[in-house]
Amino acid sequence: MVMKIAILPGDGIGQEILVQSLKVLKAIKLKFGHKFIISKGLIGAESIKTNGLPITQETINLCKDSDTILLGAVGDPLYDNDPKIKIRPEQGLLELRRILGLYCNLRPIKTYNKLLKVSPMKQSVIKNVNFVIFRELTSGIYFGKKGRSQDEAYDTCTYKKNRIKKIAMKAFETARQRNKKITLVDKANVLETSRLWRETVKEIAQKNQDIKVDYIFIDNACMQIILKPRQFDILLTDNMFGDILSDEASVITGSLGLLPSVSFGDHYSLYEPVHGSFPQAKGKNIANPLGSILSVSLMLENFGLKKESFLINRAVNESIKLGLTTQDLNTKKPCTTSEIGDFLFNYILNIKNDQVKSTQIIS
Ligand code: IPM
Ligand code: MG
Repeated sequence: MVMKIAILPGDGIGQEILVQSLKVLKAIKLKFGHKFIISKGLIGAESIKTNGLPITQETINLCKDSDTILLGAVGDPLYDNDPKIKIRPEQGLLELRRILGLYCNLRPIKTYNKLLKVSPMKQSVIKNVNFVIFRELTSGIYFGKKGRSQDEAYDTCTYKKNRIKKIAMKAFETARQRNKKITLVDKANVLETSRLWRETVKEIAQKNQDIKVDYIFIDNACMQIILKPRQFDILLTDNMFGDILSDEASVITGSLGLLPSVSFGDHYSLYEPVHGSFPQAKGKNIANPLGSILSVSLMLENFGLKKESFLINRAVNESIKLGLTTQDLNTKKPCTTSEIGDFLFNYILNIKNDQVKSTQIIS
């Protein structure tokens, strides 16, 4: 297969984790004979530095001309600490999501037995957790009207029924391949947009009665994720609730650095780790590259390269089993970012094809 991939390393650890993902892609290319055509673009603070803008038309065109996009991270503390700055790195990613219509963001949350002890939560509570957050990504309070006067500011949360319907339908499709269960997370006791979510999802549920649908409020969901995370299979929610819930849920797995994600639209897709730019770790070769590498695995799976994707998952499982993990998961004898990449590269190249078993991330 020939695939054109746009690479947007962005800020902080983005660059160094993507180097590891490219290593893994190279191993897959060498083993299976695919051709990955890689082109780099600027986004975030890196783009502001060079172009004065968090994303340029050139990067947008590059993304549109590619089959898919791999993103590292965006964000720089330089901008976080100055509320007056108008141009910010995050705007680059938000613009990209908006322009490419990437409304459906999937964030799988899954525990590895070997890492149960790393999480601050009880092992009996988090064993065998496996759920997916379906986060709406191009509406809601992130994209509503905003304003600011001297002593007042506002952000508005707006949702169109069609947008809710589209992501909800995707969640129902995936539920059918998993455990036929969806939990809608909202704040329908207070917010009008949440009531529209509930109404829309109930209408779809009526027509898809093979799927069990529960409805819970966001405040309760935050608590239930910690108390009884195994009760969830698919969590469907809006843009901001999904942002918050996914960071919270990462604690179950042991590290935010482990989580992959994919964002779909009707025409484009973007793969990125859930973690941020982790500026304290930049250039130190200590960041966890697995969130990005598992995003590559999701990408290959969604492009029909199942065997290749399973092989990456298997290599990742093996590295975790052997205790080859970065400092976020391993305080005693941590590996460096590039050591993880090297291990996975060699593992993939040296394993016999018939040993590759089915190990999927989402379904
Ligand atoms: C995420 C991030 C982004 C978001 C930031 C970087 C704009 O936190 O993907 O979860 O808030 O969506
Ligand atoms: Mg976030």
